[in-house]
Amino acid sequence: MARFYVTTPIYYVNDAPHIGHAYTTVTADALARWHRLLGDEVWFLTGTDEHGLKVAQAAEQHGVTPLQWADTTSERFREAWASLDISYDDFIRTTEPRHFVAVQTLLQRAYDNGDIELDTYEGPYCVACEAYYTEAELIDGNCPIHGRPVEWFKEDNWFFRLSRYQDRLLSWIEANPDAIVPESKRNEVVGFIRQGLEDVSITRTSLSWGVPVPWAPGHVFYVWYDALINYATAIGYGTDDQRFRDWWPAVHHLIGKDIIRFHCVYWPALLMAAGEEPPAHVHVHGFLLVGGEKMSKTALNQIAPADLIPQFGVDGFRYHFLRDQAFGPDGDFSYEGMVARYNADLANNLGNLASRVATVVETKCGGVGPRPTPDSPLAAAGAEAYDAAAAAWLRVAPSEALDATWRLIRETNAYLEANEPWKAQPGPDVDGVLGDALEVLRIVAVLASPALPRATVELWRRLGRPGSPAEQHLPEAAAWGQYPGGLPVTKAAPLFPRLAG
Ligand code: MSP
Repeated sequence: MARFYVTTPIYYVNDAPHIGHAYTTVTADALARWHRLLGDEVWFLTGTDEHGLKVAQAAEQHGVTPLQWADTTSERFREAWASLDISYDDFIRTTEPRHFVAVQTLLQRAYDNGDIELDTYEGPYCVACEAYYTEAELIDGNCPIHGRPVEWFKEDNWFFRLSRYQDRLLSWIEANPDAIVPESKRNEVVGFIRQGLEDVSITRTSLSWGVPVPWAPGHVFYVWYDALINYATAIGYGTDDQRFRDWWPAVHHLIGKDIIRFHCVYWPALLMAAGEEPPAHVHVHGFLLVGGEKMSKTALNQIAPADLIPQFGVDGFRYHFLRDQAFGPDGDFSYEGMVARYNADLANNLGNLASRVATVVETKCGGVGPRPTPDSPLAAAGAEAYDAAAAAWLRVAPSEALDATWRLIRETNAYLEANEPWKAQPGPDVDGVLGDALEVLRIVAVLASPALPRATVELWRRLGRPGSPAEQHLPEAAAWGQYPGGLPVTKAAPLFPRLAG
């Protein structure tokens, strides 16, 4: 059985969940669901990043301990993911004991291999990024990402000898062209490495909120080096070696473009230093912009999932971010665009097909669904939709996968328009057309289930099928001709009520 290990970044607990976080998490969820349909053994990991200065400062401002603060805000991410039907297999918190074991084991190995050494570090530091910069990287003396003033730090730190990994990183990327996608991001990483890599400071003495460095009392690991290791912790690194061997390195990391260096340079190098393989796949996506700007607490333009779910529903929310925000480039979120897409694809195309078919089956077939015809012109369209959707999900292109699925829906609506079964006398021709449409709905319920986990369960029930779409198995379930006929078809309220524009 194939294994599919998919991860989201672990989210900082100083921020509340917003649609930027939800975008990555919904994508990972849909991929996990697709791979479960394929019969893969899936491990879908998400979680929260709870150490570092930002969290310590946020806790202090609120008059609570860092752990109390992390407990509260980590729970908000769990609630947000529950409200979006996110089917993670594991939710990791970096304050868990299993994570301390993994971090200390992995970095101790890198230290034993001679790749971590003591040095003094001095330079500008952005607390919001939790990162040191060189003076050349600052813009007007401010952080290049946040545009805010930086602080000057000087510390005796343990350094990871990243400079020794330049050639090994380049050969890894060259030998594995699909390790970092899309290609533009891969080129960006190669360009960065070719400029020359400097050693990086991986410990701090200025705070105690972190994972202690096993060989140096008084030092904790810098939050990023603790955080990256979460991907290893969750599959048993340091606690269950067999499990780690089974799952690593065939991972799919989904990340935003702002954290590409950590995932495509520091993380692979650190793994190499500890004697492990670099991650097999890093998929980099752009930012979700609101009115052309990145969402941030300071810009007061953050949109929470809870702001949209009441109106669009869980499925409407998920569908929008999967279909309209292509995975890769930046995308601009617009409320009007979301309404338009919902009405066109969900209320009109899918919703209308389902209600129309149920209505005509009721009037022409007494509410009992007829079987499809073996040589229907829609059979080829169904096969094409499956092939295109399957290929797109494998390349982490949910937007294209759903586009392929919706082409099938549109073709089926056109097929009904051309045949007008509602006008014809009951009989074998009408039965054939309606049986074909029911068969398409059955296939669509399976293919769209990773995006629309709720509506497809309801559609399945209305088709009179036992079980649920998620229990089906692909590719078999996409093969033409399986709707058996003779089942009661339920006519009910619209699956997706139309929204006012
Ligand atoms: N804690 C680190 C990640 C550690 S992973 C070992 C972190 N957390 S974060 O909460 O600030 O961001 C997590 C992810 O959310 C990043 O991939 C980031 O790109 C993504 N997004 C945050 N805002 C976003 C948008 N507006 N649009 C799309 N993704 C965005 O970084």
